[in-house]
Amino acid sequence: MEVNKEFYTELEEFINGLKDKKNDVKILNFVLEKLDAIPVEVQKFIADKTGLLEISIENTINFYPKFRNKAGGKKIKEVSICVGMTCGVYGKGFYDELAEILEVDENGISKDGKILLTTKRCFGRCNKGPNVSIDGEIYSMMTMPELKNRLGLK
Ligand code: FES
Repeated sequence: MEVNKEFYTELEEFINGLKDKKNDVKILNFVLEKLDAIPVEVQKFIADKTGLLEISIENTINFYPKFRNKAGGKKIKEVSICVGMTCGVYGKGFYDELAEILEVDENGISKDGKILLTTKRCFGRCNKGPNVSIDGEIYSMMTMPELKNRLGLK
């Protein structure tokens, strides 16, 4: 998408007016409101003006669905593991194993930036557990080999 000069001027003014210039959530909200998208070149511009690392801006974008869906092309897979009363017996193990394989950071984002790993208290399908959802679709009676398979992991 073409981003015009005026926008960059406005964005720079907005950043300069912030008390905390590293508040990337505020900055990204501003971008989203104005452009309804978060193009990569705008992310670079923000990094440049704030001193934030591009990867940390990317992590923020990936963490919030409203940003993620507007950041062209960068689609992260969201994997949510039920660790509730019934599923948790297996779910906690699934989570720990995946977290280790994917080397997730404190936000649950895998090292390669492709997967967001989260947990859920209950999907309301306890009798079919363990349950795991991938991009919103719930898979029941999950096993670790199947989960790895679905995520393209060895
Ligand atoms: S505890 Fe997992 S679906 Fe209820």
